[in-house]
Amino acid sequence: MKLKSLKIGNIVTKNNIFLAPLAGFSDFAMRSICLSYGAGLAFTEMVSCEGLLYNNENTNDLLYTTDDEKIKCAQIFGNDPDVMRRAIELPTLDKFDVIDVNFGCPMPKIFQNGEGSALLDKPHLAQKIISELKKSGKTITAKMRIGITRGNYVTEDFVKALEQGGVDMITVHGRTRDMIYSGEPNYDEIYKAKRAVKVPVIANGGIFSVEDADKMTDNTGADGIMLARGALERPWLFSELCGKEVEVDKKSLIYRHIDLLNTHFDDSTTAVLFRKQICLYIKGEVGNVKLKDKIFKMKNTADIKTAVGEFFDGKR
Ligand SMILES: Cc1cc2nc3c(=O)[nH]c(=O)nc-3n(C[C@H](O)[C@H](O)[C@H](O)COP(=O)(O)O)c2cc1C
Repeated sequence: MKLKSLKIGNIVTKNNIFLAPLAGFSDFAMRSICLSYGAGLAFTEMVSCEGLLYNNENTNDLLYTTDDEKIKCAQIFGNDPDVMRRAIELPTLDKFDVIDVNFGCPMPKIFQNGEGSALLDKPHLAQKIISELKKSGKTITAKMRIGITRGNYVTEDFVKALEQGGVDMITVHGRTRDMIYSGEPNYDEIYKAKRAVKVPVIANGGIFSVEDADKMTDNTGADGIMLARGALERPWLFSELCGKEVEVDKKSLIYRHIDLLNTHFDDSTTAVLFRKQICLYIKGEVGNVKLKDKIFKMKNTADIKTAVGEFFDGKR
């Protein structure tokens, strides 16, 4: 795919390959790592506007950022334009340059609350949310799915509504809510989104390799792509997309990731937080299940590092 800089509202990106919001994963450490491998933007996981207004401690950790993030991007969810505008005016969100709105989360709790992908059936409300948020003067982007159920696509009407609300960029995850995270992304629907609006359209879904990225951009004409699970398993995919040859030393990457988390969290929290990520880093390695079992019993990062060191050194 062709790399290019994008103008999105008030910001200009260095390229058009971004890290997706990923609940439980796209924390400051993962964002730093992906940015260092070449990601043009990296988004926090979705945070609840209600939670922000009621000063939920947990959201502060989710919104922790470092200077590695030159352009800071947060994702929010909610369904009340006024509540959402008040939330993004809070000091916690003040440091963010880009606010992305979630119109795609398929989880029952969110959906039944009329948030995330439930809004796909309410283009007027989605438009109102965007126009209300735009009053902040910030760059406002949106991430959506192509519909709630297969065959009932809302893409064209929905992107037009978002554009009328003043949105600055739209990421289209080419799956419906009922597909959750499986199945081929629907390239035609993303193509339709690209044709329907003037703002940059970013394609998302099923990109795990340079070939997948080429296929996605060739088939959709999208202005850029957003990596999700592909980046969690192989954050160096960003470098590959930038045309750089990468020699990956997984042991060093794992140590670096742990050290980054330790700059903000206490050691036992880091040990617990890192468990889910290590599964992805060691996916496909011979003996990974045994290592995973060992690590899940460990309560400090020194022990995890020793186990990881022995695992990878033993392979040499
Ligand atoms: C564990 C997990 C957490 C996710 N959290 C979010 C989120 O907070 N906000 C969001 O817009 N999408 C979220 N997504 C969806 C991804 O951003 C992305 O749209 C989806 O995984 C499709 O891309 P992929 O096929 O490349 O993984 C999540 C996906 C996964 C697997």
